[in-house]
Amino acid sequence: MISLITPEPILSLTNIGKSFGNVDALDGVSVDIREGEIFALLGPSGCGKSTLLRIISGFETPTRGELKLDGQDMTRTPPNKRPVNMVFQSYAVFPHMSVADNVAYGLKMEGVGSDDIQHRVDTALSQVHLEDFKHRMPDQLSGGQKQRVALARALVKKPRVLLLDEPLSALDAKLRDAMRLELVKLQETVGVTFIIVTHDQSEALAMADRVAVLESGRLRQVDTPSGLYQRPVDAFVADFIGRVHSFTALHIEHANAEAVVQVAELGEIRLAMDALPSGVRAGAQTDVPAIIAFRPESVAVSLAADSPSTASNDIVLPGVLGDIAFQGQHSIVEVTRGNRPSVTATINHSSLASLQQQPIGTPVIARCARADLMLLPAELGHDTEQAQ
Ligand SMILES: Nc1ncnc2c1ncn2[C@@H]1O[C@H](COP(=O)(O)OP(=O)(O)OP(=O)(O)O)[C@@H](O)[C@H]1O
Ligand SMILES: [Mg+2]
Repeated sequence: MISLITPEPILSLTNIGKSFGNVDALDGVSVDIREGEIFALLGPSGCGKSTLLRIISGFETPTRGELKLDGQDMTRTPPNKRPVNMVFQSYAVFPHMSVADNVAYGLKMEGVGSDDIQHRVDTALSQVHLEDFKHRMPDQLSGGQKQRVALARALVKKPRVLLLDEPLSALDAKLRDAMRLELVKLQETVGVTFIIVTHDQSEALAMADRVAVLESGRLRQVDTPSGLYQRPVDAFVADFIGRVHSFTALHIEHANAEAVVQVAELGEIRLAMDALPSGVRAGAQTDVPAIIAFRPESVAVSLAADSPSTASNDIVLPGVLGDIAFQGQHSIVEVTRGNRPSVTATINHSSLASLQQQPIGTPVIARCARADLMLLPAELGHDTEQAQ
């Protein structure tokens, strides 16, 4: 996929805003989408994902801002004049038409010649592995097969950009996993730029080359899946992409190349300035609301009786053993800490053996290496529940 990416964006959105009455569905969205990538729009329900997709398709007009496709302004171009195609949230196949007729429909409407239609329909059906289902009617297909018909119907028109709104949400969990892989393979084969809307973070991380995290109509971060996970720009993104434990930073100040952060429960924490997100770095002297956060994957748990008493460089949180939840590849171990929030650790099975033999309530120590701590802007007022 990387080889298909060119420096010129295929789609360029600049300061897009959309208001419905007094609801700001989108507020100042600017992003460039590269040719040949799978780009995911991710965010909670109502954050504006479908509205943004509809603006790209032309079914909705922005209140302000500009949209360019292949360098051409298309902000007010009607949908049928744009080289984009949409696969809708609830796949709508025509029930009274065969698979082949469903796929051919859009081309017939455009007045494409019948030989050409037949050839293009065959190609599109083979791309989605439905060549043997040409003559079936939709009620003779499974949910996943219907979804592939909807995909073929969009692909047959050879769009520059394919827009998919929650394409897998109507499928059951197992089929959804299989279709994720299939969609990625399909995109690699056809090379068309995909923009996929989803509220499922694992779907976005598994499929996309880059992900835009939207919240309340604003873009929080655009990055690769690993970039979002390892370098979230704020508490919202950190919590939306995976899980975090967070602690309010009471006071932050510079000292040489370090930020010295005071945290009620953890004491004084020193972090290298160049590892800090710019939002915190800029506000490091002025006490911007911030949190110290770490992920359950960064936590180790050991029996208090076995733990070295000498000071280590880790953050140390004493508690007692709570529930251990088996998750297949690993287990989630809970460390309860009286009336303070529990800490959970994601632990693989080889490290679990000594804990598993212990009864609930056994004194344990949860640890996190300082290198795994994140200092993030909390954006109080948006995410107050994050900062415990
Ligand atoms: N036609 C409309 N008229 C009024 N408000 C609208 C309209 N369309 C969307 N909205 C509002 O705009 C906001 C964004 O809606 P949108 O459908 O884009 O969200 P979404 O991120 O796709 O959510 P979901 O994950 O639930 O599909 C919501 O507050 C919604 O109620
Ligand atoms: Mg939606």
